[in-house]
Amino acid sequence: MERDPDILAEDTFLEIAMETKEKEMLAGLMATQKYLPCKFFYDETGSKLFEQITRLEEYYPSRTEKSILKQNSGELMQGADGTTLVELGSGDCSKISILLQSLCREKLKTSTYVPIDVSLSAVEESRCKLQDRFGAIEVCGIVADFMQQIHLVSQHENRIFCFFGSTIGNLDRRDAFRFVAKLGKLIKRGERLLLGLDMVKDKLVLERAYNDEKGITAKFNKNILNVTNKILRTDFEPEYFRHHAFYDDDEQRIEMHLVAMRDMIVKSPFFEGVLEISKGQTIHTENSHKFTSHHIDEFASVSGLSVRSVYADSNRWFTLTDYIK
Ligand code: AVJ
Repeated sequence: MERDPDILAEDTFLEIAMETKEKEMLAGLMATQKYLPCKFFYDETGSKLFEQITRLEEYYPSRTEKSILKQNSGELMQGADGTTLVELGSGDCSKISILLQSLCREKLKTSTYVPIDVSLSAVEESRCKLQDRFGAIEVCGIVADFMQQIHLVSQHENRIFCFFGSTIGNLDRRDAFRFVAKLGKLIKRGERLLLGLDMVKDKLVLERAYNDEKGITAKFNKNILNVTNKILRTDFEPEYFRHHAFYDDDEQRIEMHLVAMRDMIVKSPFFEGVLEISKGQTIHTENSHKFTSHHIDEFASVSGLSVRSVYADSNRWFTLTDYIK
């Protein structure tokens, strides 16, 4: 049995998590189609690079979702007294800040913010930033993989689960429905889920968002090899890989890969032999599924939640659905 991580990581938790990390990475590298789980993008460097991505002209999702939040924050937070805002994959907490801005001091005092993120630095930073800006709010961070540890939020009441950024798109379709179904079981009557989804759209717009001119997404993609080098003590040389991101119409998803530009041999004390990678072979690093209104309804039906409202930008490039039980 794995022990539950403590609220706000202690060293012991980091060590326990590490063992599973190693296993997860190894499994991906040993697979026929090599892959690395995309949560490993987000070490400190990766989280910074992702923040840079969110500011890129090509990468419309973050700014579009934020504009939806700004436009509707009053309505979204109406009657939000004594609520706990649980944010899954909190990152830089800029989105929750938009919602908190529409709460008055009195309401902030009775509110709790629970950011959950795999990145310790992200959770610590959100705590600092939010307590600076909204002193009255109680922040209770959790460093964990929310996919596996979502039960850690059970001690809170009157919750609004916030799952922004279309992060759910990183899961395979089936896993995404399963995860929302699991959330549905956890959510009590009157509690809500705010789910941000990047919608299916013109392929050129989608592909541009993952192939920016400045090459930040490429850097972000390659950084996963630096993370791997730290965790598995491998000797990957990121400069010998090429960033490749494309939209698959059938799967309705962006796939990101790292393509080996030459044959190579990778070593690690965790490998039994060596890892041989040949020129042209890829490591699949991310899927980013896109959604339609059909999926929005499907999430409701698998989870027992009802759709209160669907908010969108004028292009309907991004949606934010307010579900309630
Ligand atoms: C935050 C996981 C939703 O898939 O668009 C951005 C991550 N990857 N550019 C996404 C990402 C490449 C992002 N998510």
